Amino acid sequence: MQLDVVVLAAGQGKRMNSDRPKVLHELAGKPLLAHVLDTARELSPRRIFVIHGQGADAVQKAFPDKDIEWVLQAEQLGTGHAVKQAASKLSPDSQVLILYGDVPLVRAATLRRLLEAAGDGVSVLTAELTDAGSYGRVIREGNRVVKIVEAKDASPAERAIKEFNAGLYALSARRLSGWLGKLKNANAQKEYYLTDIVGFAVAEKLPVAAVKVEDAMEVEGVNSKGELAALERALQAREARRLLEAGVTLADPARIDVRGSLECGRDVSIDVNCVFEGRVRLGDRVRIGPNCVLRNVTIQSDTVINAFSQLEDAEVGANCRIGPYARLRPGTSLAEDVHIGNFVEVKASRIAAGSKANHLSYIGDSEVGERVNVGAGTITCNYDGVAKHRTVIEDECFIGSDATLVAPVRIAKGSYIGAGSTISKDTPAGQLTVARAKQVSLPGWKPKNKG
Ligand code: UD1
Ligand code: CA
Repeated sequence: MQLDVVVLAAGQGKRMNSDRPKVLHELAGKPLLAHVLDTARELSPRRIFVIHGQGADAVQKAFPDKDIEWVLQAEQLGTGHAVKQAASKLSPDSQVLILYGDVPLVRAATLRRLLEAAGDGVSVLTAELTDAGSYGRVIREGNRVVKIVEAKDASPAERAIKEFNAGLYALSARRLSGWLGKLKNANAQKEYYLTDIVGFAVAEKLPVAAVKVEDAMEVEGVNSKGELAALERALQAREARRLLEAGVTLADPARIDVRGSLECGRDVSIDVNCVFEGRVRLGDRVRIGPNCVLRNVTIQSDTVINAFSQLEDAEVGANCRIGPYARLRPGTSLAEDVHIGNFVEVKASRIAAGSKANHLSYIGDSEVGERVNVGAGTITCNYDGVAKHRTVIEDECFIGSDATLVAPVRIAKGSYIGAGSTISKDTPAGQLTVARAKQVSLPGWKPKNKG
């Protein structure tokens, strides 16, 4: 059967105490709703409907994805009312999976179990907590689920029940449409409760399957910043376990944050407090020192990134040494055996094999050849106030300390540049070029007011 997914995301999220719609708050660097959509996509649905309401424009704008069909719930009259907005759009012959935009950690494998369990009736996802708080309680007679009671409508005995409704369901579009028409709002919150469909199924003697997950965290919703932070830790712990199982050494599994995808080769080691964003790939035996931030970076084998380095949209070859305190900005591409030391910034530049810039430099919009030595304090002056220009440093050049290379300029192969030079014209190959005021000492000179 074809699958239609309906994601509820119209609620305001009052307890977040924020102007941002709840589903746009980020978990592991991406909006809550993006987690749900990515998981839904793993099931290859025919259509994905997102019910939006509070902050509708902002939510829609944050997701230009072509595969989303937006359905407006102008007034939020309850979860049943929300699903009803999409009812006429569902294909009558499809199976429907109902998800929440604020329940981000549910796994595709769990949703597959939920879909398989629905049969001719309905399946609901549940978990257990010692105190299920404000969640709807799952009421069973013997082993059979007979209804779901909202915490606000529950008796003390019902409130004591540990098994709660996660709010995610699977059922056929045909059954759903029939039941949505029967919802009433005669309850404590005067809302149209989607949970009532469980009672309808029971009344029609159709099966109700409860699929229980082991770890309640997987189905917990986000209602406050506290809950968001708790889920963030749970997700990061899951990621750290995955890395450890894959053979990565983590100095402390509780002090790593992956906000995207991190792929590691063999025998990679990562020290504490590193943040990985976007797509990061680390080759065999790469070592990352403490407090590094890597965003969309590929690093080849045996390279060491020392403490406090920040790398973004960069490629680093094998056997390089970067940092401590290095900054590689977008468009940086380093070949093998390159050394980039402390307080060196590289932007939109290619640096060929065996070259070194070990201290206090800026290399921007540059092409650096092989075995070049860039002395301490060297700056490529790439910006003339209007446009950016390129600097070319050919193979085997030696750039003395504190040189300023005013682009556009070409330092030909094997050039030596005297320390402190300001180079604004191309240099000849293999020669020493010095461009600075001559040093003079004045005989007989005395400081003022001194006998
Ligand atoms: C609902 C369930 C409850 C379950 C809980 C799990 C009902 C009546 N109750 O509780 O049994 O334990 O979820 O989290 O269904 N939403 C809309 N439009 C609305 C109302 C809600 O889109 O009119 C969306 C919210 O944005 C959110 C989701 O539905 O993504 C759940 O809403 P929320 O108000 O948190 O659920 P409850 O009614 O408290
Ligand atoms: Ca809720």
